[in-house]
Amino acid sequence: MNASSTPVGVIGGTGVYDPAWLTESFEREVETPYGTTRVTGGHTEGRLVYFMNRHGAGHRVPPHRVNYRANLWALRKLGIRVVVATTAVGSLRRTIAPGTLLLADQFLDFTKNRIGTFYDGGDDGVVHTDMTSPYCSGVAHTLFECGQTLSLPMILGGTYVATEGPRFESSAEVALFGRLGGDVVGMTGVPEVVLARELGFCYVTLSIVTNLGAGLSGSPLTHEEVLGLMAATVGSVRDLLVSSLPVLGEAPCSCGAGPDRLPGLSTSKDP
Ligand code: HPA
Repeated sequence: MNASSTPVGVIGGTGVYDPAWLTESFEREVETPYGTTRVTGGHTEGRLVYFMNRHGAGHRVPPHRVNYRANLWALRKLGIRVVVATTAVGSLRRTIAPGTLLLADQFLDFTKNRIGTFYDGGDDGVVHTDMTSPYCSGVAHTLFECGQTLSLPMILGGTYVATEGPRFESSAEVALFGRLGGDVVGMTGVPEVVLARELGFCYVTLSIVTNLGAGLSGSPLTHEEVLGLMAATVGSVRDLLVSSLPVLGEAPCSCGAGPDRLPGLSTSKDP
């Protein structure tokens, strides 16, 4: 199978709910050992795409309760190799303005209570997955180039800080994360990227900067502010997905991922 004949996965985060841009769309339920996940399938310029709402229908599942393992396993079951995941984030630097789209190349993990692996011992053994370069640089480059063509405000590379949520950060945390080298902060990037890496996906996070981090703007941060900025930016995100999805995965990939490199995870668990 060459890359363009394989389906692409999109995980839609906060504000990115409606895959109306897909043609010939259909709904599907995918059973996994971790639970059942719903996806919308459809096409854009001949490319089969499966779209999944990370927070479930009607955005009812908060970041710390997302069934990340079921979501990723379902995408694997659908034969997907490339995954683009959107996330709403706060900026940790005044130079990264709301409205910017950032493709992270590193993460810092400050989550606390999440199941962060498929390798839970037993038949699957003890596996320590390399996380030197967690995101697919080939897919990120393609997305960035498409964004440049569309004149979108995009940044290629940056460090995503993952927090447990669902609360926003304190001003001191935002200041600390910035000093540690973080560029943006969000609540869903981890363990998603880790699980994606374990399953061998070419995975990228398209972070949509919805606000300046707590304490950087001078006024308290609200969920309404996040949703308002998302509403203003979601058209750009859709344009970027529509222009890039048909060609994603065609450029040579240096991230070393891919289903042929799956480290022997047992598929016999599939229901
Ligand atoms: N912090 C954490 N998650 C977020 C933010 C934020 O400032 N904005 C959007 N998601």
